[in-house]
Amino acid sequence: MSGFTEADVADQSGKCFIVTGANTGIGFEAARVLAARRARVLLACRSEAKAEAAMARIRRLTPGADVAFLPLDQADLGSVRAAADMAAKEPRIDALVNNAGVMRPPLMRTRQGFELQFGVNHLGCFALSILLLSTLAKTVGSRIVVTASIAHRRGRIAWDDLNAEKSYDRSQRYADSKLANMLFFFELDRRLRAAGSPVTAVGCHPGIAATDLGRHMGPFQLLVPLVGMALNTPAMGAWPTLQAATATVVPGGYYGPIERGGNRGPSGPAMRRPQAEDRELARRLWDVSVAMTGIDPGLPPA
Ligand SMILES: NC(=O)c1ccc[n+]([C@@H]2O[C@H](COP(=O)([O-])OP(=O)(O)OC[C@H]3O[C@@H](n4cnc5c(N)ncnc54)[C@H](OP(=O)(O)O)[C@@H]3O)[C@@H](O)[C@H]2O)c1
Repeated sequence: MSGFTEADVADQSGKCFIVTGANTGIGFEAARVLAARRARVLLACRSEAKAEAAMARIRRLTPGADVAFLPLDQADLGSVRAAADMAAKEPRIDALVNNAGVMRPPLMRTRQGFELQFGVNHLGCFALSILLLSTLAKTVGSRIVVTASIAHRRGRIAWDDLNAEKSYDRSQRYADSKLANMLFFFELDRRLRAAGSPVTAVGCHPGIAATDLGRHMGPFQLLVPLVGMALNTPAMGAWPTLQAATATVVPGGYYGPIERGGNRGPSGPAMRRPQAEDRELARRLWDVSVAMTGIDPGLPPA
């Protein structure tokens, strides 16, 4: 089956990308390919040591690669603000690739006290995207990419317990955070279109890829190499991200693997659960996210 792969990423000379969570997994692979295609790539990571190691790997593969470290901890809105301020000093940003994520940790909280998966996977992504909007808007054709998951299909937003004060099911909360990613990018794109913004929002998911994402899942993580063989390597998992970030895309488009029921292989338009495009849910999530982060772009509903 044909579809988008790494080989389809065009030359990106003169462009600048931010990739969050770029020190490992899908984010690293996306940063590696973008740097090889001559883009400037800001690796937005919470660990400077891990980012330096990732940049050294990229430079070994692409001597002279234009890569830089952008400190970012999405579990702290102060750090998200600082990252957006630092990124705003770049002459241009062509795409913010929201990739950083955490899956099924024990109950933990962000610096501001939000449940970690909702806080990092959704609120951190929401905050960084909104704070970078005016910077992105200076560059024609710029875009915001949000990384969701097949898991969004099981998601339901726990409106009466967003902070997991009453109960915490780690698997359900991951799915919920990924549904939030879907609701957010569709809503963001609708609001951007309605406002006549030059910025586009798109979504992607990697199918199932053999990364460190299962680090909180104990022995299951030992099976990861088998996942790579049967489904996607991290490099393959980055193909939808790369399509969403560099190809000609439909505003509000959603990209993912097109083989084996959307779990594996080259990238193309991806399936989503109808609830992911529910406008009422999306507006409610938007309002809640503005209230929780205190960050409001002032974009009215479409
Ligand atoms: N792998 C899959 O099968 C799969 C499937 C569906 C969706 N996804 C999504 O794909 C994205 C990338 O995941 P992956 O599979 O590449 O996982 P991964 O190998 O675990 O990489 C996750 C990245 O996110 C970073 N991160 C975690 N918490 C952060 C925080 N508070 N602030 C900044 N960065 C943080 C990690 O940094 P550290 O190394 O410092 O922890 C790491 O760089 C995630 O959004 C995930 O939900 C993956």
